[in-house]
Amino acid sequence: MIKTRITDLLGIKYPILMGGMQWLSYAEIVAAVSEAGGMGFIPAASFLTAEELRAEIKKTRNLTDKPIGLNISMLPEFIEGEPTMDYVQVGIEEKVSAFETAGRSPEMLIPKIKEAKIPLIHKVPQIRFAKKAAKLGADAVVIVGFECGGHPGMADVTSMILINKASRVLDIPILAAGGIVDGKSFLAALALGAEGVVMGTRFMASKESIVHKNFKDWFVTATENDTTILLRSIFNPMRVMNNETAKKVKEIEARGTTLEEMLTYASGKVGKKAYETGDLEVGVIAVGECVGLINEIKSVKEIIDEMIAEADEGLKRLNGIVTG
Ligand SMILES: Cc1cc2nc3c(=O)[nH]c(=O)nc-3n(C[C@H](O)[C@H](O)[C@H](O)COP(=O)(O)O)c2cc1C
Repeated sequence: MIKTRITDLLGIKYPILMGGMQWLSYAEIVAAVSEAGGMGFIPAASFLTAEELRAEIKKTRNLTDKPIGLNISMLPEFIEGEPTMDYVQVGIEEKVSAFETAGRSPEMLIPKIKEAKIPLIHKVPQIRFAKKAAKLGADAVVIVGFECGGHPGMADVTSMILINKASRVLDIPILAAGGIVDGKSFLAALALGAEGVVMGTRFMASKESIVHKNFKDWFVTATENDTTILLRSIFNPMRVMNNETAKKVKEIEARGTTLEEMLTYASGKVGKKAYETGDLEVGVIAVGECVGLINEIKSVKEIIDEMIAEADEGLKRLNGIVTG
């Protein structure tokens, strides 16, 4: 049992969250994280309609009675007709235990979520966005560092600096994301001032993950040098597996391109297909630098139990160093 403001806020045993992962974090793995004492988030963006999302929440509920969350990933700019508010409505009606929002300011969602008295955790890559979210009424913020899988933002600042800084300037609890993979990085995040962690890559490389075995084989051999950043040219950088598609996208970014051409390589649907077929060279595949620290595919429960045990051992080792 670990007690922080995050475990209190969410009613969970360990402050270890699996961030929403489009096309990956479906009912089974979300339930597995929650069952293991953490909390999993279903990404609304994996579903074409609000009713499909509702069905997935219900399916998850059949697998666990522990708290589960809903990730709402928004485009950088509001687009008329986007389904964001419908997804929020479903989350409220289905009584999810928390929302994880990302992509742009959660301002538009806050009144509805507050009225429903559901905790709102907003994910940001920069301190100024975290401060804004706190001011708007977010209950906690996730700070993602440059090493993360997915979108690290434009500033290229690592978790080591961001978590420390966030804990100095914010009163609401902070969760660290980006590079958290085991008990050592969990303990380090707590030491820097975080009250919980959010992980993506480590759970993507778990037994329960639905990605093809070829990806799992790659995760255990990949190093910390095997990811790269793409899409900076459209101000939406993304840390991904450095495969043939990543190299191609870099090439067309360098010469200047249209969004249409970019999307033929970078669309999420191409990546989704790759998860199924196991073709490692096709698609833009979000992966964090911590892939270099993964050398075994374990179950979600093993990952979480080992994190807690390793953090405990690490704490004892540090106490030994400090006292003599
Ligand atoms: C394959 C993959 C897909 C992701 N999809 C989303 C998403 O749809 N929405 C979102 O807010 N974050 C997404 N993320 C980011 C994660 O929720 C989490 O913030 C990030 O993985 C943390 O960094 P780590 O990979 O170093 O653990 C994704 C990450 C990965 C690896």
